[in-house]
This record gives sequence, C-alpha cells and structure tokens, in this order.
Amino acid sequence: MRTYLVTGGAGFIGSNYIHYMFRKYDTEIRIINVDSLTYAGNLENLQDIENRENYTFIKADICDKEAMEKIFEENDIDRVVHFAAESHVDRSIRNPEVFVQTNVLGTAVMLNAAKKAWEKEDGTYLENKKFLHVSTDEVYGSLPDDENAFFYETTPLDPHSPYSASKASSDMLVKAYMDTYKFPANITNCSNNYGPYQFPEKLIPLMINNALQGKSLPVYGDGKNVRDWLYVDDHAKAIDMVQEQGKLFERYNIGGHNEKQNIEIIEIILETLLEILPEDDPRRANVGKQLITYVEDRKGHDRRYAIAPDKIKKDIGWYPETMFKDGIKLTIKWFLENEEWMKNVTSGDYQKYYSEMYK
Ligand code: NAD
Ligand code: DAU
Repeated sequence: MRTYLVTGGAGFIGSNYIHYMFRKYDTEIRIINVDSLTYAGNLENLQDIENRENYTFIKADICDKEAMEKIFEENDIDRVVHFAAESHVDRSIRNPEVFVQTNVLGTAVMLNAAKKAWEKEDGTYLENKKFLHVSTDEVYGSLPDDENAFFYETTPLDPHSPYSASKASSDMLVKAYMDTYKFPANITNCSNNYGPYQFPEKLIPLMINNALQGKSLPVYGDGKNVRDWLYVDDHAKAIDMVQEQGKLFERYNIGGHNEKQNIEIIEIILETLLEILPEDDPRRANVGKQLITYVEDRKGHDRRYAIAPDKIKKDIGWYPETMFKDGIKLTIKWFLENEEWMKNVTSGDYQKYYSEMYK
C-alpha cells in the first residue's frame, strides 16, 4: 500500500485532492495530511473522510524540521504532495514575510526531510519514492493582451508579487535538489483553480458570496485582466497522473485553455446564479450587475495568464475534462448547498481582513 504525505491538505486544493484520491484509490492508499491550520486550513473540508482507517491528520507547521523528520521516521512515506503554502496574492502584498517563511523555508524543510529519509548511503534513493511540488503559473510573470502568447515550461521565471516570488524561489529550490542531488521530484505549475471549498478571499467564491448577500462586487482596475480557469478536480487528476506517469525531474504546466477576463467571470456568475436560484428564493432580488463596483487596482497586477498544456497532454495524456460552464454550475450549487460552511469561514478573522482590504 502506497503512503502519501500531503502537506496543506486542509486547504482548498489539498482537500479536493484528498477527496479525489480516496474516490480513485479507496483503500489501496494511505494518506497522512500535515497542515498547521492557518486561516485557510479548515478541517470541515475533510469531515466526511476523517474516520477512514487509511487517513491520518497531523497538525504541524512545515517549517518545523523536527516534526517533519519525525513523520518520515515513523512512516514509510512513498509520495510527498506538497501543497502547503500561503496562497493569496493580496495578502502577500500586505505582509510578505510569512510567504517567504512558509513557501521558501517550509519547502526547504520538506525537501530535506524527504531527502534524509529516502537517500541511501551511496547517494541514490530508495526505490519508487517521489516528491511533487505544487506550484503556480504566476511564477512566469505576466503575458500581454495577445491571445497567441502562452506560458510554456521553458518560459523564464519572472515573478512580480511577493507571493509569486516566494513560489518561484521554492520552484528553484526543488530544481536545485533535482540537479544537485538527483532528488526524485517533479514540479507542476497550474493556472487558477475554482471549485468547492475555495476560501472566499479568491475571486470566484468572493463574488458568489457577495452577490448572494447583495454586497458590492469589487473589480480591480479595468476588470480586463485575464486568468486561465481550471476546475479543481482536473488539477487533482493531473497531479496524480504526473506522479504516476510523468518523467521524474520534469516540470509540467497544467491549465485549461479557458482564459477569461475577470469581468466576464463575474457576469457568468451573476447569470448562473439567476439560472440556478429557485424563483421564490429571496436572494434572487440581490443578484444583478448593479453590484459591480470598480475599485483601485491591485499593486503590480499581472495582466494575463495563459498556460500551454501541450507537454502534459502529449507526454501523459492529461486534458481538462470539465467545461467552464459545467464547472461553474457545480461550484455555485456547492456553495448554495453549503451555506453553513461559508458562514463558518467568513466569521471572525476573515471579517477583519475583508473590511481592511476593501475599505
Ligand atoms: P489554500 O490557501 O487554500 O491552502 C493552503 C493550506 O496550507 C491551508 O490548509 C493552510 O493551513 C496550509 N498551510 C499554510 N501554511 C502552512 C504551514 N506553515 N505549515 C503547514 N500547513 C500550512 O491554498 P490553495 O489554493 O489550496 O493552494 C494550494 C497550493 O497550490 C499552493 O502551494 C498554491 O501555491 C498552489 N496553487 C494554487 C492555485 C489556485 O488557484 N488556488 C493554482 C496553482 C497553484
Ligand atoms: O494563477 C494561479 C494563482 O491563482 C494561484 O497561484 C494563487 O494561489 C491563487 O490565489 C490565484 O491567484 P490570482 O491572484 O490570480 O487569484 P485571485 O482570485 O486573487 O484573483 C483573480 C483575478 O481577479 C485577479 O486578476 C485579481 C482579480 N480580483 C480578485 C479579487 C479577490 C478582483 O478583481 N477583485 C477581487 O476582489
């Protein structure tokens, strides 16, 4: 039975990945989820699987070297899937240090702990051990408004925000371990994810939540910045395929060829809400374009992201399965059915962040 060490598994993509893996492999695998439960980590995301015999949760910080080494000493880990990170660009602009701490130092600690556990005396590694570093397309910087320009695996790293600079640094560290120590790893660089359990500081859940409450929909700048949206299950599937079918030491871009301007996304959300909400639902009255409010632009706002997923398609056969029109419906339905989840995550500290951020 393969044992996975998933870092950051209580967050948005990590929890969706854990659900995906149990749906796919059921009792064939064991998952250990290590997460320090920052504001973005939520064990409610994993309630339905928490009693499985082949699942263990450990509350620990990935920067804690002793705690990470202990996990490797006590368990025969076969796969590391490293999601844990500070992930929100706006927060990184306000408070960069914690991004360097978790995303750079935390990644170094994870690499060292895995290397220590897996390396043999002759410098080679125990058989079939693999580390996957989950990264982002933001490390490549920004593309012009030219629909023929894409990010490739060979595109030079050119990060702009403290968040993307910290992720690019962690990518370089993983690359250094592969180049120097032949450490068995892969790097994946994925575009914007959306789906269930996404924290409502990010564009899609924030707009859904605000529209339902009749709150304004804050659009940064001219609203024409482009992101390439991928349904989170397609990302989970890609990570698993890269780890099992990809070539070690390679970087793979993951994206949906689904580029949309932010304003288009907001309009689609409003239309879909009106399509889904029952005629007698009082929240229908709140939903409409009058909520759209143009606000000050994000500092250093990257204009356009667009992934060319040619390599992962050609080498591994992965392609995005969920069309945006279906994925956004699934997502909105999930948020409508999980109002309690939204209430819980938006209480307390998040209220403080929101009123500071959008004052
Ligand atoms: P998230 O913010 O929802 O979740 C991050 C998780 O990491 C949380 O559970 C948090 O508690 C945990 N964490 C943070 N600091 C930690 C620490 N020091 N020790 C242990 N756990 C810690 O993030 P997400 O959107 O799920 O992103 C997951 C990963 O995927 C990140 O590495 C991110 O850079 C990458 N990524 C995200 C996207 C996206 O669109 N969200 C796209 C591409 C890549
Ligand atoms: O591209 C992958 C990245 O996508 C991940 O690496 C990050 O972890 C993830 O947070 C996401 O970063 P973005 O900055 O692209 O996502 P965000 O949802 O914050 O913003 C998407 C776009 O919407 C961006 O152009 C900024 C804009 N925006 C965002 C918010 C929160 C608004 O116009 N208004 C808002 O209130």
